[in-house]
Amino acid sequence: MIWLSPKSLVILSLGLFVSNGSCASKPLVRDVVIIGGGSSGTYAAIRLRDQGKSVVVVERESILGGHTETYVDPTTKQVVDYGVVLFHDLPVVRQYFARLNISSALQNLSQIFKPITTYLDPDTAQMVNFTPPDPSAGLAAYAQQLAQYPGLETGYNLPNPVPEDLLLPFGQFVAKYPEVANATFSIAQFNQGLGNILDQPTLYVFKILGFDVLNTMANGALLPTSSNNHQIYDQASRILGPDVLFRSTVASARQRDAKGVEIDVNTPNGIRTIQAKKILITIPQTLKNLLPFNPDHTEAKIFNEFRSVGYYTSLVRSTGLPSNFTSSSASANSSFNIPQMPAVYSVSATAINGVFDVKYGSQKILPGSYVQGEILSYIQKLQNNGFTGNFSGAANFLRFKSHVPFELTVSPGRIASGFYNDLYALQGYRSAAFHVQDSSKLWNFTETVVLPGLLKSL
Ligand SMILES: *[C@@H]1O[C@H](CO)[C@@H](O)[C@H](O)[C@H]1NC(C)=O
Ligand SMILES: *[C@@H]1O[C@H](CO)[C@@H](O)[C@H](O)[C@H]1NC(C)=O
Ligand SMILES: *[C@@H]1O[C@H](CO)[C@@H](O)[C@H](O)[C@H]1NC(C)=O
Ligand SMILES: *[C@@H]1O[C@H](CO)[C@@H](O)[C@H](O)[C@H]1NC(C)=O
Ligand SMILES: *[C@@H]1O[C@H](CO)[C@@H](O)[C@H](O)[C@H]1NC(C)=O
Ligand SMILES: *[C@@H]1O[C@H](CO)[C@@H](O)[C@H](O)[C@H]1NC(C)=O
Ligand SMILES: *[C@@H]1O[C@H](CO)[C@@H](O)[C@H](O)[C@H]1NC(C)=O
Repeated sequence: MIWLSPKSLVILSLGLFVSNGSCASKPLVRDVVIIGGGSSGTYAAIRLRDQGKSVVVVERESILGGHTETYVDPTTKQVVDYGVVLFHDLPVVRQYFARLNISSALQNLSQIFKPITTYLDPDTAQMVNFTPPDPSAGLAAYAQQLAQYPGLETGYNLPNPVPEDLLLPFGQFVAKYPEVANATFSIAQFNQGLGNILDQPTLYVFKILGFDVLNTMANGALLPTSSNNHQIYDQASRILGPDVLFRSTVASARQRDAKGVEIDVNTPNGIRTIQAKKILITIPQTLKNLLPFNPDHTEAKIFNEFRSVGYYTSLVRSTGLPSNFTSSSASANSSFNIPQMPAVYSVSATAINGVFDVKYGSQKILPGSYVQGEILSYIQKLQNNGFTGNFSGAANFLRFKSHVPFELTVSPGRIASGFYNDLYALQGYRSAAFHVQDSSKLWNFTETVVLPGLLKSL
């Protein structure tokens, strides 16, 4: 279970681009052009507007929200969030909800997630005789370890030299601190979308499962009372109106003069040119995504070091599964019973009768069509294994979303040799700032780190 927000890190780029020509159409002139209307981009747009700045958001999809995926049944109006599920009870989240006129309430996770009743082998979809150990004492021991690294709560502020514990594959970390062991399966469930979690540097486990998540596990999440997390983005869309260019991507960018940039955007109505004092890039900072911005050698080298895993969420119907079916994958003989990726993480009944939430993870990026085939074949195994009585119809996708590239990471060797120092050094260079995949934390980060820097320079 997860699902804070698959939005990655944030870059604040102060646009020092190479000039390569001009464009004829009448440009949109704004203080800030924001690339990407996911959690960070949307938040930044609203907050900049509130502080009197003009903005335009360039969004690839036809709606805002990034990894926040919500399905509303057209007849019953019942709602299923199958992307971002949880927000933390932080002042910045409460203020943002108030700004968007969204009423919210604390909800215990036991109310949000139906209890898992069935543990299934990820390969055979057969029952595994497994009950997760009580994670409480293990989580307390985990929290004690985490407390040694307060710099992780607000970015990648790592001690120098980087402590060896942060570099250890998480499986080895748990072997070193066996008092954490009984929480390992639960930690893995909260870190869906980290590939093979036991092989990942402990740093990334700590980044995702930090104190905000632990607090949310203990005290509940702050959720819109509508149960529709996309309401955040629907409201933001209304406020931003024509200041969002939907179904649009950046074709090229260049420096206009010392004071700003000019970018050409492919829109459904042709190329639009935008002139802005600053660009805020909030899409995942892979080299591929940044190519239109002409990264120089230093930047290209650093951004090219990121690797990512695959994470896929879906809603499946016509499965024949009973409406109280909630399963999670567990292996009979793997370390801590954690399934090896790629695998289905879980199949869970939703609020909508006959619609099941299926999550899938992989260690590397897989084509969406391949993952869909794997999910359907898994459902077929469930049918063959008798979970659907005599039903054996063909299941199909109501929704499928590939959340790649998910969770950008680098190797332990590069963490140790100062990757995050190199990354942060871009801050004085063209200015960059990075955090974690978690909407609530990204809003706080945007509010307290990104926007003050940006506003100062406008
Ligand atoms: C805020 O929400 C309330 C209740 O849903 C509604 O009555 C009111 O009109 C909304 N106000 C704005 C400014 O959207
Ligand atoms: C949430 O759980 C806590 C402790 O388990 C309990 O005290 C509290 O009443 C619960 N809150 C709700 C809204 O159910
Ligand atoms: C883990 O849980 C088991 C029982 O579920 C218990 O016997 C064992 O002592 C626990 N281990 C630790 C390190 O707490
Ligand atoms: C689901 O419901 C059926 C019938 O209502 C019941 O027999 C079965 O035990 C339930 N399964 C679970 C896992 O709760
Ligand atoms: C684990 O179990 C599976 C099937 O239950 C089996 O194929 C595999 O060989 C086992 N692996 C080990 C390391 O025992
Ligand atoms: C499926 O099982 C139900 C009872 O559970 C029975 O009424 C029905 O005839 C069966 N259908 C087929 C095709 O076997
Ligand atoms: C919010 O950001 C501020 C400033 O970076 C930081 O001190 C604080 O710990 C953050 N709060 C949370 C809950 O992340």
